[in-house]
This record gives sequence, C-alpha cells and structure tokens, in this order.
Amino acid sequence: MKLKVLVVAGDGIGPEVTREGVRVLKTVAELGGYDFEFKEAPIGGIAIKQHGSPLPASTLDTALESDAVLLGAVGGNEFNSLPPDRRPEAGLLQLRQALGGFANLRPSFAYPALASNSPLRPEVVDGADILFVRELLGGLYFGEPRSWNRDTNEAWNTMRYTRDEVVRVARVAFELASSRRKKLTSVDKANVLEVSQLWRATVIEVAAEYPDVTLEHQYVDACAMHLMNTPRNFDVVLTENLFGDILSDEAAVITGSLGMLSSATVGGQINLYEPVHGSAPDIAGKGLANPLGAILTSALLLRHSAKLEQDALAVETAVRKVLEQGHRTADLARGQAGQPIVSTQEMGKLVYQSLNEMIDRRQAMHAV
Ligand code: IPM
Ligand code: MN
Repeated sequence: MKLKVLVVAGDGIGPEVTREGVRVLKTVAELGGYDFEFKEAPIGGIAIKQHGSPLPASTLDTALESDAVLLGAVGGNEFNSLPPDRRPEAGLLQLRQALGGFANLRPSFAYPALASNSPLRPEVVDGADILFVRELLGGLYFGEPRSWNRDTNEAWNTMRYTRDEVVRVARVAFELASSRRKKLTSVDKANVLEVSQLWRATVIEVAAEYPDVTLEHQYVDACAMHLMNTPRNFDVVLTENLFGDILSDEAAVITGSLGMLSSATVGGQINLYEPVHGSAPDIAGKGLANPLGAILTSALLLRHSAKLEQDALAVETAVRKVLEQGHRTADLARGQAGQPIVSTQEMGKLVYQSLNEMIDRRQAMHAV
C-alpha cells in the first residue's frame, strides 16, 4: 500500500490538531507496513502572509500530484475585513473546486461515553448515528453572479444547481444509505425556492434506482428542529452546500463538541479530508484544542483513500476507548466535574498508544 498525502495544516489550531492526525496515520503505516509519504504546504492565512495568496500555485500543484489531501483549518481575525475572494477561506474553496470532490461526508455520532456532554438529554442522543452528505461544489458558495455593490449598497449571491449536480451527489447519498440503515432524508426549502424544487424532483428521480432505501423530505427549518428533538430518526441526510454547513455544525450538539467532527470529500479526482471545526484562533497554540476531529478525519482517509477499512475501524475504536477511559480535552470536560483535562498532544498520544496495543494484539492473533 503506497499513498502520497499532502498535509495543509493552515491556521489557528489547524497545525496542532493535524499533527496528531498525521501521527496516527504514521502509527498505522508503521504497524501495517504501509508506505505513506507526507508533504506539507501552506494554505489560508499563513499562505497569504508567506506568498500573498490563500492558495499558492505550489500548494495547488502539490495537491494535484497527491493521492489525498489532509487539511487542518483556515481563517483568522486579522483577515476578517478582506473581501471574500481574498480571505483565507477562498483558498479552501479554490482547493475544493480543483480537487473536484462534490460529496462531503460528515458523520455525527453519539458516543456513549460523552452522553453527559451533550446539552441534550442522554435518552435523546443515545444511539444517534447520522451521516450528512453535503453537496460541496455548488449552491450559494460558488453560484454566479455574486457581488457587493458599494455605490448602490446592494449585495447578492446566487443559489444555483443543475440537475446533474444533484444527481451525482444524490447517488453518493443513496449508496451510503444502502450500506447503512437504508433511510435517506433529503433537506430543502422547496416551499420557497425554485432551486429546492429542482433538488427535490431530482432526488425523487434518483430514488427509483434505490428501491430498498426509504426516502423522506424535510424543509431545512424543520430539519434543524428534528435533529435536536429526535436525532435517532436520521440515518443519511442529504443537503445542498449551505444547509449542510449549518446543519452539520448544529449536529455537533449531538456528539457534545464540534471538536469531535470529521469529514471526507469524495467523488472527485482527489479526496479531501478536513475536520468540521474551524481555526479557533482564541485557543490556538495553547494545547487546548481537541485533536479527535482531526484524528477521526485521518480514519476517514484510511477508509476512503487507502481502502484500509480495518485500520480505519481500529482508529475509531481507539478514540472510543480513550473516551471510555475518561480522558477529556477542555471542550469535552463539561459534565465531568473533577476529571483532569488532557492537552491536545496528550490526547493524540493516548489514541496512538491505544492503537498500538490493539494492532499488536491483532497481529499476535494472526501469528498463532
Ligand atoms: C466548513 C467551513 C468552511 C465552509 C469555511 C471555512 C469556508 O465552515 O468546512 O464547514 O463554510 O465550508
Ligand atoms: Mn462550517
């Protein structure tokens, strides 16, 4: 197994959490005898400072030569007054477009060990296991025209989808639903928006290819409420770009912390892996950030790019075990009075130690 991974750690807590994700990948490579090659390149605010662009040509070229790209986070307060096309976030959007992945998979899972962590009651979140499939290359993020006219004090963006763009992401969502609990919730605002009417009509068409999957439709406002009221009723949730951005952050409440959420973007030339959380500049460099989102993102890389399902599961199991042992980063300490808090690095170390033990045991079993 040989895999070329480009690491674009970015800004804020990006570098410190990504370091732990990479360490986990290196542990897996060492134990499994895989050949993972890592390169690093700047993106976002750090790239603006070093190269005058949030996505320097050298970063893009290296990304296009890789098998997978692992991202930390982008953004920082000092760039907040820049126009959207010059901000750190623009670098990430350009990278997403260049790599071509249109289906962003965002799992949201209620870990039993974190049940008291969610502000929702344990009996509400218990057993929740949702997979968001967020369309990533269309909608308001990329639609033209877009502008802010300072003379007339008007600004506009365009929410636009073609049928083909909906078909391809819907197929990914139906496939995933087929391999899970066979339920797909498609989110739209078809009572108001034409784009949503096209979205819904197209999803209904694609559903005919997947007779074993139950399809339901929810308006985005209602979905936001149902996610908090009855999270267990969801399996795969299919959304357009902006709705998915918003709902996936909301779903962090089910897990207990945004720091836990991972994502994989598939369907294009090169897959992109990024935790759902942002750069959190207020806690950057203090060892306070939760690296588990980045580590679980590495697990998705093992699953979707390296096709190492067993190792992906081993990483996910290691995370679960460490949580069951009671280890908590600052964001997870809520509801666990008296629990000592571990740093970003310590949490990373606990995971790869647990992984080492597990894989050692697996190999010992194979040897007999
Ligand atoms: C996310 C982030 C990004 C998005 C930003 C940083 C551009 O919020 O991945 O959810 O809006 O897609
Ligand atoms: Mn977001």
